[in-house]
Amino acid sequence: MVFPTDFLWGAATAAFQVEGSTTADGRTDSIWDVFCRVPGNVVGGDTGEPAADHYRRVEQDVALMVDLGLRAYRFSIAWPRVRPDGGAVNQAGLDFYSRLVDTLLANGITPWPTLYHWDLPQALEEKGGWANRDTAYRFAEYAESVVGALGDRVSSWTTLNEPWCSSFLGYAAGVHAPGRQEPEAAVAAVHHLLLGHGLATRAIRAAQPTAQVGITLNLYPVFPADPANPADVDAARRLDGMQNRIFLDPVLRGTYPADVLDDLAPYGISDHVREGDLDVISTPLDMLGVNYYSEHNVAVRPEVEVHPTRNGRLQKGSPWIGLDKLTFPSRGLPRTDMDWEVQPAGLTAVLLRLHSEYPRLPLYITENGAAYPDVLGADGTVGDSDRVTFIEGHLRAAHDAIQEGVDLRGYFCWSLMDNFEWAEGYAKRFGIVHVDYDTQVRTPKMSAMWYANVVRENALNAPDGS
Ligand code: FCB
Repeated sequence: MVFPTDFLWGAATAAFQVEGSTTADGRTDSIWDVFCRVPGNVVGGDTGEPAADHYRRVEQDVALMVDLGLRAYRFSIAWPRVRPDGGAVNQAGLDFYSRLVDTLLANGITPWPTLYHWDLPQALEEKGGWANRDTAYRFAEYAESVVGALGDRVSSWTTLNEPWCSSFLGYAAGVHAPGRQEPEAAVAAVHHLLLGHGLATRAIRAAQPTAQVGITLNLYPVFPADPANPADVDAARRLDGMQNRIFLDPVLRGTYPADVLDDLAPYGISDHVREGDLDVISTPLDMLGVNYYSEHNVAVRPEVEVHPTRNGRLQKGSPWIGLDKLTFPSRGLPRTDMDWEVQPAGLTAVLLRLHSEYPRLPLYITENGAAYPDVLGADGTVGDSDRVTFIEGHLRAAHDAIQEGVDLRGYFCWSLMDNFEWAEGYAKRFGIVHVDYDTQVRTPKMSAMWYANVVRENALNAPDGS
C-alpha cells in the first residue's frame, strides 16, 4: 500500500501537554494551569509540570524526530507565552518558537504550528473567556503577532485545534478547563471560537499572502444504536449536529445547520451571531485538519440516570446539551486505555463524508493514535504491539479513502511522546516515544521504529507481509 508522493508524515504534540516550564520567560497562567490546581479536576492531581520538559529539551526532541525520519512536526504555540495575560507581546515567548522552527528547518522537518490548542490566558477567562466575543478579537491579534514573527519561515498555519473540546468539554461538561457547566456559555463559545478562527485566518492572509491556512476538527461518524428506534435516530442526528456539522457548516458553507440552530435555540446560540460573522467564519481555507479517534454509537434509554462523559470516571456534566438519558452501548469492539472503541473504518467514513458532502479541500489527518498501558521492560524496550496494530489499521483506512479519490495529503500520529493527557493527567500514554517523567529519559517504543519504517518506505506492507 503505497502512499502518494510527497505525503506528509509527522507526529503531533501540544504546548501545554509537553512543554512544562510554565512560569519561564514571562509565561503566565493559562486556563489549564488554573484548572489543574482544583482538586479532583485532573487524575492524580497532575499539572502542566513537568510535562515532557520539552521547553528545555527541544533540541534533543528534534534530534529524536530526525532519528525517526519524520518529515513534519505538528506543535502548538502557547498564547500565554507570546502574550502573557492576553496582553502585550513577550519577545522571549516568541523566541522559543522561533528557535524551534529554525531547528526543525535546519533538519529538513516542516514546522506545522497550531495557534490554539486550549491554553487560553487565564486573564482572558476572567473577562468571560470564549463566552465573551472580545476573546475572538484578542485571538486574531495574538495570531498576527505570531505570524509576524514566524511567517518568514512557516508556511502552514492551523488556527484552532478541536473547538468542540474547547466549547463543549470546557464550558458545558466542565471536564476540561475552564471547568464551567453552563450550556449557554458553551454555545456562545462555539460561535466566538469560530469567529476567532475566521478573524485569525484573515489576519494571517493579510500578513502572509502565500500562507496555507486551516483548522483542525475532531470528527466522528455518529450512528443510532437501534436504527429502528426514532429516539436513537434523533439522538444521532443531534450528536452529529453538535459534534461535526456545527463546525463544518459555518466554516465550509457559511451557514449553521438549521436543525442545530433549532436544537440549541433554548440556549441562545443565535443571539451571538451578528451580521457579517458568517462571512468571516467562512473565509476560504487551504486545508482541513481531521483528528480521528473513534465513533459515537448512541442510544436514548429511559433507565439512564446520569449523563455519561468521556470516561465515566470524571463525570461532571454532559457535553451533549439538551439530551437526556443518553448512552453509548458497547458494540463489543476492542478499546484503548481511554476506553475509546477502536474502529478504523470510521476514519474512512469521515474522510469520504468530507469528500462527498463539503466543498473539497486538501485534507490532513492531524491526530490519530491510542493510549495503552505501556510498560518499559527491564531490557529497556516498550513492546507496544497494540499501538502498532491501531496505527496500522488506521493507515489502511486512510489509504482506502485515498483509493476512493479523497485528497488526503498527510498523517500526524498522536503523539510524538507521552504527555499530559488533560483530565487524565500523565496516567494515559499516547506517545510512540516513552517518557520517564522522573528522569525525562525518552525511549522510542516499538511503534516508533515501526512508524519510522512506514515513513521511510512511504508505504505499508500488504496484510500478508509482502
Ligand atoms: C485530542 C487532543 C489531543 C490529545 C488527544 C488524545 O482530543 O487534541 O491534545 O489529548 O485528544
